[in-house]
Amino acid sequence: MLKRLVFFGGKGGVGKSTLSSATALRLSEKGRTLLVSVDPAHSLTGIFGLEIGSQVKSLKENLYAVELSAEGLVEEYAQRVLGAVGELLPSISSGLKEYTKHIKHSPTALETVVLDRLVELCNEYPFLVVDSAPTGQMLRLFETAHMVRGWFEFLFRLAKERQKVERFMGREDNLLRLIEERRRKLETLESILREKAVIFAVANEERLSIQEMETLRERLKNFRVYPLLNRWLGMEWKGPKVGWVKEPYGLEGLKRVEVGEILELL
Ligand SMILES: Nc1ncnc2c1ncn2[C@@H]1O[C@H](COP(=O)(O)OP(=O)(O)OP(=O)(O)O)[C@@H](O)[C@H]1O
Ligand SMILES: [Mg+2]
Repeated sequence: MLKRLVFFGGKGGVGKSTLSSATALRLSEKGRTLLVSVDPAHSLTGIFGLEIGSQVKSLKENLYAVELSAEGLVEEYAQRVLGAVGELLPSISSGLKEYTKHIKHSPTALETVVLDRLVELCNEYPFLVVDSAPTGQMLRLFETAHMVRGWFEFLFRLAKERQKVERFMGREDNLLRLIEERRRKLETLESILREKAVIFAVANEERLSIQEMETLRERLKNFRVYPLLNRWLGMEWKGPKVGWVKEPYGLEGLKRVEVGEILELL
C-alpha cells in the first residue's frame, strides 16, 4: 500500500536527481522504496555509479530504481490500443499501422504512458520517489493527468454507446474494456496525487531558479508543494534546505546529503 509519492521539480541543474536519490536512500530504511526517473535525460546511472535501465533494479536492501523509457512504453501502449481498435474494425486495420507511427509523437503521449506506469508502480511499493525533468515538463505531466482524465470520461461514454451495437452483433468489445481500465487508472492517479503526493519545488541561491520555484508552487497550488533550497551556502532562507556537500555520488556520497528536513515533511 502506497504511503508517499515524492516528486522533486525545479529548474534544470538545481539538484532534483541528487535529492531524489538521497531521499530514496533514506526512505529505504523505513520500507521498500522505488526511485523512478521520468526525465528522458536520465541521470540516475551516473549518480549511483550503477547501471540502471528500463527494468527495475535492486540497488541495496529495500532500494530499487528504474529509468522509465517513455518511448518504449508508448510503443507498447499503441500496439495494445490499436490492436483492440483493429479487432473492432478490421476494415481499417492496415491504416492503423500508419497511425501507430504518428501516435508516438502526439502531444501528451509520453506523459500519458508515464503516468500510466506510475500508477501501476504505486501499487507495488510503499514509497515512490520520482526524479522529474525540469519545470516545464513536470508541469505538463501534472496537467496531463487532469486533462486526459476528462478525455477518457468522454471516450468511455462514446464506447458505452458502441457496446450496445457490439452486444447486439454478439461480439465482445475489447476497446471498451481498455478505455474503462484506463479511466479507472486515471481516477486512481488523481486521488493518489491529491492524497499521497508531496512535491518539492527545488531552487538554489540563484534568482532564476527561485522564480521557477514560485512558478511551480503557483501552477501546482492544488497539491502539497514545499519550496526547498538546495546547495545552501548561507543565504537567508526560512523554509527547508539542504546544504552543499562534496561529491554527492554513489551510495556513500548520497548518505552525506542531509535530507532530514525533507523527511520531516513527508
Ligand atoms: N546538495 C548538493 N551539494 C553539492 N552538490 C550538489 C548538491 N545537489 C546537487 N549537486 C550537484 O549539482 C549538479 C546538478 O545536480 P542534479 O543532476 O541532481 O540536478 P538536476 O536538477 O537533476 O539536473 P537536471 O535538470 O539536468 O536533471 C550535480 O553536479 C550534483 O552533483
Ligand atoms: Mg536530473
